[in-house]
Amino acid sequence: MDYLQIKRVKSLSGNIKISGAKNASLPLIAMTIVAKNSVNIKNLPHVADINTLLKLLSNLGAYCEFCDDRVIVDTSTLTQTKATYDIVKTMRASILVLGPILARFGHCEVSLPGGCAIGQRPVDLHLKALEQMGAKINIEAGYIHAIAPNGLKGCEIIFDKITVTGTANIVMAAALASGETTIVNAAREPEVVQLCEILNASGVKIEGIGTAVLKIHGTNGELVDIEEFSVIPDRIEAGTYLCAGAITRSELTLTHVNSHHLGSVLAKLEEMGSTFTITQETITIHPSKVIKPIKIVTQEYPAFPTDMQAQFLALATQAKGTSIIEEKLFENRFMHVSELQRMGADISLNGNVATINGGTKLSGTDVMATDLRASSALVLAGLVADGITNVHRIYHLDRGYDALEKKLEAVGANVKRLKE
Ligand code: EPZ
Repeated sequence: MDYLQIKRVKSLSGNIKISGAKNASLPLIAMTIVAKNSVNIKNLPHVADINTLLKLLSNLGAYCEFCDDRVIVDTSTLTQTKATYDIVKTMRASILVLGPILARFGHCEVSLPGGCAIGQRPVDLHLKALEQMGAKINIEAGYIHAIAPNGLKGCEIIFDKITVTGTANIVMAAALASGETTIVNAAREPEVVQLCEILNASGVKIEGIGTAVLKIHGTNGELVDIEEFSVIPDRIEAGTYLCAGAITRSELTLTHVNSHHLGSVLAKLEEMGSTFTITQETITIHPSKVIKPIKIVTQEYPAFPTDMQAQFLALATQAKGTSIIEEKLFENRFMHVSELQRMGADISLNGNVATINGGTKLSGTDVMATDLRASSALVLAGLVADGITNVHRIYHLDRGYDALEKKLEAVGANVKRLKE
């Protein structure tokens, strides 16, 4: 297994190119299931989760051809409708194939994704919405068995909670359903917006894009002609590198980034003392010498994203004062805390609230990644820790960060990928 060895350097400088968004790429790859043509997707990130979903589609009979940072997906040859446990267990976002496959073929079996390190991660809202659209669903031997022999019918769906992949799943199911589907309390994340924009541009009329109420006019089973498109930049990867600039007090420029997707993250970094120069496609961070403490509550977009919580917690260990971070979306998303404490951070947990007494010096040691964003928090801590920090189990990191160590090395960090 690989691990990252990190040694502190004086500071970083230079440009980092932001890759396409993992969490936009996954629903967009699933969306090819409703296409009648082969779809050309540009700016895909080179991360494990994308490969996993493409492998799943290939296993179902689709044709996937990779060339550099783009992929051509043709699902006209798709014949299987069972997403098996061996793949789904490695990537729970495989649930995104349920809506489109059920809408297109009238039946689908998907292994229950099960929980993951950060929480139980139920999919009850996905299933309840599909049942409202006329599907018959039962859970047997760890699999979701869904049938809709007469097709799915549009209706009004009110999500009890805002769910990102739940919204994406139902948007894709509704695209092929008969009649109109209204989703109330829809997710407004940029990744969901891009999915809706591409479907809308391809003839699936969608109203309310970017709002909490989406109205999808179904094609009544007619597959869709989808033009080539490019995946939006990864706002969480971008936020992670902004935190790298802030924690090391380094001026860094991110390129190929969309600052409009980072409003709440930029605002919190400004509160902590950084300033920014922003152009159409770049963000330059001008960090402050003294990092100010912060109060953060994670919520759905456009509020502060849970996927940036771990990175800001690492940054808060270097603030001059006490920070409070409350995690409201997932029940177990503080596993980076115990590893940061082992590096010398002064953090206390009370339920889903972390109190960070900043200003402590961090010491490098062996630490273990537990989930995707926790891994990046440990890397950030390693950039400012004395001595050597070895981050183990970085297969978590490889799920969602495209060439992280190469991008950091290119701006002067001392980060090496080594073998255990
Ligand atoms: C997406 O996960 C992202 N993953 C996550 O990013 C992100 O943390 C999360 O949204 C929240 O922003 C992808 O887009 C692939 P949810 P998702 O459904 O869709 C509860 C990363 O690091 N819920 O919006 O699975 C759920 O338990 C990953 O890139 C139900 O109760 O999250 C949670 O408390 C981690 N029932 C809340 O809703 C359901 O049926 C939000 O979950 C669905 C969700």
